[in-house]
Amino acid sequence: MKLRDDEKAMLAGDQGPAVQKAMDLLVRYGAALDAECLVDTRNVAGTIGATTPFLRQYADQNGGMDAVFSEFNLDSAEWVKIPPVKVSSSHLQQGIDPRHAVRQGISQDVVRLYETGQAYSSSLGVQPLNTCTPYQVGNVPVKGEHCAWMESSAVIYINSVLGARTNAEGRESTGAAMLTGKIPYWGLHIEQNRRGTHLIQLDIDVSTTADWGLLGYWVGEQVQDRIPVIQGVSHQPNLARLKHFGAAAASSGGVEMYHLVGVTPEAQTREQAFGASPPLATMHFGKAERRWAYEQVNITARDDEIDFVMLGCPHYSLEQLWEVCQLLEGQRLSPNTELWIFTAASIKQLADVAGYTRIIEQAGGHLMTDTCSAIGKVVPTGTRVAAVDSAKQAHYLPAIMGIQTWFGSTAECVQAAIEGRWKGVFR
Ligand code: F3S
Repeated sequence: MKLRDDEKAMLAGDQGPAVQKAMDLLVRYGAALDAECLVDTRNVAGTIGATTPFLRQYADQNGGMDAVFSEFNLDSAEWVKIPPVKVSSSHLQQGIDPRHAVRQGISQDVVRLYETGQAYSSSLGVQPLNTCTPYQVGNVPVKGEHCAWMESSAVIYINSVLGARTNAEGRESTGAAMLTGKIPYWGLHIEQNRRGTHLIQLDIDVSTTADWGLLGYWVGEQVQDRIPVIQGVSHQPNLARLKHFGAAAASSGGVEMYHLVGVTPEAQTREQAFGASPPLATMHFGKAERRWAYEQVNITARDDEIDFVMLGCPHYSLEQLWEVCQLLEGQRLSPNTELWIFTAASIKQLADVAGYTRIIEQAGGHLMTDTCSAIGKVVPTGTRVAAVDSAKQAHYLPAIMGIQTWFGSTAECVQAAIEGRWKGVFR
């Protein structure tokens, strides 16, 4: 891989051992990918905290957070002192909500480790967004901006909807990018790799958030890690719908970018979306395909008594909280059902001011931050059957927690929390 002078100097250790190890990791990673060079980035979203039980134990039993960064972000068995980050860096989810530790079954020891980790990342200059949706809380990259982000639902959102450029990075490469401001130049950083590969023609209306989730689930299954171009969009989608669409497509497949003709910035026309190459295949999304997706995301669901309703995958926006509050205001949840809604901490602060948190709590629900059920492995004790409005969460939760999971609209989920019973139907 060709290195510039500043990169060679970092690799030679001119900026200390942590930066040297970070550059060494990026050079090894780039060479494995056949990248011809590195590209500058000033926008990294990754994770450096002790976000899983294993990492918390590692931090506790070894040299603390520098040891975690060295071993798990820099692939270095030798622990080195980590300097402040070189470029703007956001932290993704942390794994627990310390304000709901008891409810989430988290011990005080783990809360203390969380606080240590939080203080550590802030001391390095990493912004504590603690969400899978940094683009909802101020980290909004612009078209063409080279980023180094991990978290599949965020990667697909910024590539497709914002026209920013990132591959689905990992803990190691984002950690190294924070210390160097560099990332391998390959994949979706390169203009010609961002063109569509498969044409998806919509034969039915796709309008609600649940519709977009089902479409995303089907598209991901069909194209896997290629780039779909969706044509025939009849209802302008908003942020929440595109967020659910992308999260689902990245879960059932490995989609990191899509185009919506006439909607997303690199697809003002179908010709622009595909560039010079014709589609490899054309597929149609109609009633049968929608039903297939619905059955797949409900494949584990059998019993209709609901123990747990989980909303906020990906983390809810303020608008989605407002919508839920309209359904919840003046209602009371079933005594047998827990409702947990996940969002970013800064959105919760606004929800507190707007009165949304009070409405949720008065109904008997809880607004949580910094984590989610699948990533944090946090569900109410004894949960057997859950309900979600996210195709992504319906994909992961049964496998991760061994529970049945229903998928439906947000309104069906809220109704299930109120009645304690699933009454959702395929529409
Ligand atoms: Fe975010 Fe957790 Fe869903 S990380 S995208 S809420 S699985």
